[in-house]
Amino acid sequence: MKMDVLLGLQWGDEGKGKVVDVLAPQYDVVARFQGGPNAGHTLEFDGIKHVLHQIPSGIFRSNLVNIIGNGVVLDPVVLRKEIQGLGKFNIDFNQNLFISKKATIIIPTHKLLDAAYEKSKGDKKIGSTLKGIGPTYQDKIGRVALRVGDILAADFKVKYDTLVEKHKTILSFYDFPLDELAELEKVFFESIEFFKTLNLIDSEYQVNEFLSKGQKVLAEGAQGSLLDIDFGSYPFVTSSSTMTAGACTGLGVAPARIGEVYGIFKAYCTRVGSGPFPTELFDQDGEDMRKEGNEFGSTTGRPRRCGWIDLPALKYSIMINGVTQLFMMKADVLNIFESIKVCTHYQLPDGSLVDRLSYEINEQEAKPVYKTIKGWNQSLAHVANYDDFPSELRNYVSLLEEELGVPIKMVSVGPDRKQTILR
Ligand code: GDP
Ligand code: IMO
Ligand code: MG
Repeated sequence: MKMDVLLGLQWGDEGKGKVVDVLAPQYDVVARFQGGPNAGHTLEFDGIKHVLHQIPSGIFRSNLVNIIGNGVVLDPVVLRKEIQGLGKFNIDFNQNLFISKKATIIIPTHKLLDAAYEKSKGDKKIGSTLKGIGPTYQDKIGRVALRVGDILAADFKVKYDTLVEKHKTILSFYDFPLDELAELEKVFFESIEFFKTLNLIDSEYQVNEFLSKGQKVLAEGAQGSLLDIDFGSYPFVTSSSTMTAGACTGLGVAPARIGEVYGIFKAYCTRVGSGPFPTELFDQDGEDMRKEGNEFGSTTGRPRRCGWIDLPALKYSIMINGVTQLFMMKADVLNIFESIKVCTHYQLPDGSLVDRLSYEINEQEAKPVYKTIKGWNQSLAHVANYDDFPSELRNYVSLLEEELGVPIKMVSVGPDRKQTILR
């Protein structure tokens, strides 16, 4: 059996959480492979709206195993709060949640470092979620981080103190106040005690054994391809590998064992935080999109920047991920527009037209070149299957498929589980 991968093709918040929840009944296992509490994945069903940060989006399906893989950076404080927040759903975490001992732990000083680094950048700041993601991955790659398995060792506190001393030296360089630290550490160590009661395992064995037994595994990506550490709009990116290859290293699954790659994208674009966004709208259309799509961050509440769909960017994400199926989200948000714009190329300052995300593209002003099409400009509330789609929406789907060369197998027309049209 092969492992399928689901990931975002834009700058995050494409609707990954919703799709994982919709697909979950077809799977035995859902596994997160990168990122951490910077993610906010929203699920809506039975009148309930719930945002998950570190726990995989299969958690509401009782017969499913959820795994947090080695590629994740995990905040024990956030994890305890998340589990407590799920109390009313009667989830059996002993049966349904497994955490890799090789996942990296976010400690309180990582969050202080995140804030110190951002502050020092002034108007060049990344717009980090300030959850400690960058500094924790930095320590992982620097080979000094703490891992989940370490919390079970007798010398955990010694290892912790060694790392914190290092962090305090850096923080003093940035003149960053440590007043909060004692309280943060108190809550951290309480959360570590709780953490020890969870299933901590070598998840690479578990995932591969599931696949060998013929069970179906879905890898759930966080963030999006344009925030990838290698291929995103560096330095305005997150610190993990958000692409299909990240699912291999983040779970310990060989590339030959990857099956379908589901690429999730919005019918338009959004971005939270800083960095290039060629199709960003600063006019009333952008305002209307934000309002209609309720585009405010699931993790930080920040307003999301909004703009028209960007085909060069989508083509790039499809290429680096080997996407086999596309899922288009939030089509209903475009109901309000009489016409819709599709960016097919960028125009560079020398007048040339390009459709590649070259190294140079972030350094220059890339002006979007649009094709304008007629909008459907009507509610999709009545739509139950693809044949019910207004002809303009069908044209939009066909145009995108033609340009992108990958079939759009799902169109989402609302936040609820049920507002999902399969083709
Ligand atoms: P994720 O990070 O990729 O899981 O996405 P988020 O949960 O951060 O953001 C997606 C937002 O759009 C959430 O508030 C979802 O409830 C909502 N959403 C998902 N699909 C649709 C859709 O088809 N239509 C509308 N209107 N909202 C949607
Ligand atoms: P989900 O999984 C959207 C953005 C931040 C910032 C940059 C770096 O919900 O799609 P970080 O905290 O990782 O150091 O921030 O990445 N970012 C996200 N934007 N959705 C996310 O996750 C994001 N996670 C990080 O806004 O610009
Ligand atoms: Mg999100």
